[in-house]
Amino acid sequence: MKIFIDTADLDAIRKYSKMGFIDGVTTNPAILAKEGRNFLDVVSEIVDLVDGPISGEVVSLESGKMVSEGRALARVHESIVVKIPAIPAGFEALSILSSEGIKTNFTVVYTPNQALLAAKNGATYVSPFVGRLHANAGAGDDIVRNIVQIYKNYGFKTQVLAASMRNSLYVQQAALAGAHAATVPPAVLDDMINSELSQVALTGFLSEWNKLPQDKRDIFGPQHEA
Ligand code: E4P
Repeated sequence: MKIFIDTADLDAIRKYSKMGFIDGVTTNPAILAKEGRNFLDVVSEIVDLVDGPISGEVVSLESGKMVSEGRALARVHESIVVKIPAIPAGFEALSILSSEGIKTNFTVVYTPNQALLAAKNGATYVSPFVGRLHANAGAGDDIVRNIVQIYKNYGFKTQVLAASMRNSLYVQQAALAGAHAATVPPAVLDDMINSELSQVALTGFLSEWNKLPQDKRDIFGPQHEA
């Protein structure tokens, strides 16, 4: 399962990339607006930090303009994936951009049927909004499982990118449901990384270790150097 980081904060992208498990980055207009900088500058800097798919979203609501914005974004770098919203004009734009070989992420997806149609239009990724669906009393984990099954039934190559991961349980559920990828904000990554019990176990081991005389626990001493 690919893990994308859902932020445009360059420091956070650097920090979690060093840990080795980040496969790509997703942004949306709200995430980019938080940075308060020129949108294309930020996207270009993200591309330099991560070797993987970087999603940037179109902001127009009319298909022709979405296509122009999508083409402009795709020209920034070959890693760019153009995010297109699941509205009628978005389906039209998706069809055109896919036919031009531009990688796409069909976003704000709330139903398996939207995902089915996006796959028919050649989307590279679809992003079901699990957390927001849960917040609206919908079955957020079922949507991932159902889209994965539909894609298996027909051999669609479109990848399911679980989005709106507002807690670590949603990521676990998306993985169990067979999502190809999840996009996770930094705070939720922290929650995935850390367990208080890991810390408790380690503290216990090291407290016993420290009872050993110093000369017997010098594992990095000169006699062990290569
Ligand atoms: C995904 O591509 C979106 O940027 C993101 O996951 C939305 O998350 P939110 O619903 O917590 O805003």
